[in-house]
Amino acid sequence: MLLDRVKPLDAILATAERKSLHRSLGALQLMLFGIGCIIGTGIFVLTAAGAQKAGPGLMLAFVIAGTVCIVAALCYAEIASMIPVAGSAYTYSYATMGELLAWTVGWALVLEYAIAASAVSVGWSGYFTGTILNDTFGIALPPWLTAGPLALGGAPGGVINLPAMIIALLVTWLLMIGTSESAKVNAVLVAIKVTALTLFIALTLTSAEFDPAHFNPFLPAGVFGGWGTGVGAVGAAATIFFAYVGFDAVSTAAEETKDPQRNVPIGLIGSLLFCTVFYILVAAGAIGTIGGQPIMGPNGIPFPAGSEELARQCAMPQFADALVCSNEALAHVLRQIGFGAIGNMLGYAAILALPSVILVLLFAQTRIFFVMSRDGLLPEGLSKVHPKWKTPYVVTAFTGIVVAIGAAFFPVGQLADIANAGTLYAFGMVAIAVMVLRRTDGARVRSFRVPGLAIIGPLTIAGCLFLFLNLPSEAMLVLPLWTAIGLAIYFAYGRSRSHLGRGVVEVAEVEVASTLEPDIPGIGDRGRD
Ligand code: ALA
Repeated sequence: MLLDRVKPLDAILATAERKSLHRSLGALQLMLFGIGCIIGTGIFVLTAAGAQKAGPGLMLAFVIAGTVCIVAALCYAEIASMIPVAGSAYTYSYATMGELLAWTVGWALVLEYAIAASAVSVGWSGYFTGTILNDTFGIALPPWLTAGPLALGGAPGGVINLPAMIIALLVTWLLMIGTSESAKVNAVLVAIKVTALTLFIALTLTSAEFDPAHFNPFLPAGVFGGWGTGVGAVGAAATIFFAYVGFDAVSTAAEETKDPQRNVPIGLIGSLLFCTVFYILVAAGAIGTIGGQPIMGPNGIPFPAGSEELARQCAMPQFADALVCSNEALAHVLRQIGFGAIGNMLGYAAILALPSVILVLLFAQTRIFFVMSRDGLLPEGLSKVHPKWKTPYVVTAFTGIVVAIGAAFFPVGQLADIANAGTLYAFGMVAIAVMVLRRTDGARVRSFRVPGLAIIGPLTIAGCLFLFLNLPSEAMLVLPLWTAIGLAIYFAYGRSRSHLGRGVVEVAEVEVASTLEPDIPGIGDRGRD
């Protein structure tokens, strides 16, 4: 009874046919788009949290998390090229596993997109206060304005992270008035990010400060740190998984890709492999030059990243220069090894490029809410489109305020872990949806098929579960709690109002699709037929 509301695939595809997008993207454009969404706070900031969990084993953590993302990316590619409509994992689940599970996926995607947007805003704030205010203008904002409260894992003396809140609201406003980033702007920002990281790698790996002794011990907290502790190489992998989040946006461009069977996997796997190699080299450069051993607690286990204890340790003079304590990890490394000016330039690169990651994440979140409200599962007022801006301004404003609150009060590591919990659930469900659809609708045309799905599918599910189980216990707990809240809302509100339940799917689908441009930032000026 509960799982019987499966949305007919043909009704969903009717929307896609109306859009009739031109197949114009090649593998290189997909890769550029992917790298634009992927590189952000994860590498620029969470390198510090990753090192606190794994020490030099952070390099191994990047390999583990990257591998899970590559198999998940293949599953995304198949289903996105088959169901090329807005709503991502939520829509795929609606067409395969029914409304109830689709609702839980859509609800989990709030964690992936909205909370991730908060995390990137906090990451941006670290670079803004460090590079622009401190190093460029010599302005030191009082600590109570630059971090959330210690009780929530912020820094000592923190009350509110004002710069993080402001950047989240600014990006929200840009989205509300219809700003969409063009492919050209995306390409420029990718070039800036990649240049900054390349310089970082070149300077650190050739630096006189580079000392192989810094890699010893390689795994100070072991490979497995123990259940719920979130430390060790796999604990770090579960956290820096965040550095890869965003590639799923690439799969949504599958329907606009030339020769998708060839180009979609090259675009997805290419961008992920490219980032994995870069991330490992960045970690090697950072740790090889200034060291990256965790600050250990009295029991020989690293203090949890983002914890009150770690914040207190980091406030002590002996840890003032430690990698694991820095809010702007990569710029900090360059300053430590005598490249202060280039460190600042890297800081500027992060300040310029991170808002576009916030934009993509916020955009994705508003579109998920939009589709859920269009389906009748959330209040229809949310999907109101502004007459002049042509954007779903109500849902954008609402989402932006929630993201700004998250950014104002929580530390980046905790936000990233929570975002990862939701993302891992969604990725696992997508792998299940791909396998279900091969059985229930095997004859339907797929412009890309996962090779060896019998292995890749279960591997994706196992990989997601494995990383989830290695998150810190608080982040793990958030998912069931969040799902329980979501289910209460579903049964109290959505179930009785669902358009599918009331038999009005197709009308709503087509009416709104024609009033809203569903372009994705970053490839916003792609061609249409
Ligand atoms: N992968 C994106 C980042 O690291 C979300 O900021």
